[in-house]
Amino acid sequence: MAELLKPQLSAVEQPYFELGKAATKMLIHMIEDKWGSQKKQLELQPVLNHRKSIAHPLSNKRGQGKKIVVVGSINMDIAVNVPHIPRDGETILATGTTFLPGGKGANQAVGVSKLDGLVYLIGRLGDDADGKKIYGSLVNNAVKTEGIIFDNACQTGKAYINVAQDAGSTIVEYPGANHNLDRSQIDMYRHIFNGAEYCLLSLEIPSTTAEYAITLCNEKNVKVILKPVRSFNLNILNQIDFIVPNEKELNFLIPGDGSVEEKAEQLYTGGANNVIVTLGHNGCYLKNREYATFFPAADFIPLDTTGAADAFISALAVFLSEGMKIPNAIWYATYSAGLSVTRLGVQSALPDRMALNVYEDDINAKIDDFFREKPV
Ligand code: RIB
Repeated sequence: MAELLKPQLSAVEQPYFELGKAATKMLIHMIEDKWGSQKKQLELQPVLNHRKSIAHPLSNKRGQGKKIVVVGSINMDIAVNVPHIPRDGETILATGTTFLPGGKGANQAVGVSKLDGLVYLIGRLGDDADGKKIYGSLVNNAVKTEGIIFDNACQTGKAYINVAQDAGSTIVEYPGANHNLDRSQIDMYRHIFNGAEYCLLSLEIPSTTAEYAITLCNEKNVKVILKPVRSFNLNILNQIDFIVPNEKELNFLIPGDGSVEEKAEQLYTGGANNVIVTLGHNGCYLKNREYATFFPAADFIPLDTTGAADAFISALAVFLSEGMKIPNAIWYATYSAGLSVTRLGVQSALPDRMALNVYEDDINAKIDDFFREKPV
């Protein structure tokens, strides 16, 4: 039974055969009166059948950085591999489809965990088969799930993703249960924010909930990293430590003409402490008190760019939470995003610590060059 459950349960083996054999032997000895009135005790060594339900205490593996909380969307991603993104009125044939756990919130949480960060996810799933499957995969990825609610009034959120041969993608999202992630859920789990260093938000949940969570983070001294996939109230920019838009998002936040540098400057003067604009294969741009500078992308061949920003943001949060300087953390995040696009899918494509460590020397060389050219 323990093997059939999900996750498979680790359990102490019941050695029925050994017990039966030992008991029979004892019985025969007693019948033959070999021991007289002497009592005999048999000690068997317990055997732990290690399947998937137990692991080393987190402190052994994690905790170089501080606690990270993600408040965000959880979806079932239905990815369709297509030769190109279909145009209006066009019918094309897909070369493959996959159903995999996704959603920016869940992706970021899994990304943090794979890099050995301690992460809690606050989110909402439908009380359906997709919800259960996703929940199991979050648990398997060592994400702390106590802030997740199963909503029996809604389906689990879905994202319909076209992945083109040139690695580009488009997403149509059905929010489902994500839409019901409300202030009362944030209140119910406000204790999760205690002692956290960073909170990651990406606005695939109601903006009122996100803004409420941001205010709570400010109360509790938790730094906010926001990916603004939708527009939001720019008056709260001063409550945000890192705003990480891509170029499209930057353009709807700050419409009109103007370069990336100028628009990033506007978000910075509007109150955000750090603005990082992700620019796909062109890397990213950082504007803060010390820097106004571009970082090139890592040199990897892309297969599927979906979720690259999630990889970037989760790595940024992990390395900042370990006390790294911002440019250093950006280099690690750049490599993490670069590695993620070399594989299909999102969560399965997010690199773990070991995969990123393979590039540690390269990353450190880039960091050295960066500080040589731009001494602080
Ligand atoms: O960032 C990628 C994610 O965006 C996908 O997993 C999809 O669910 C959408 O939320």
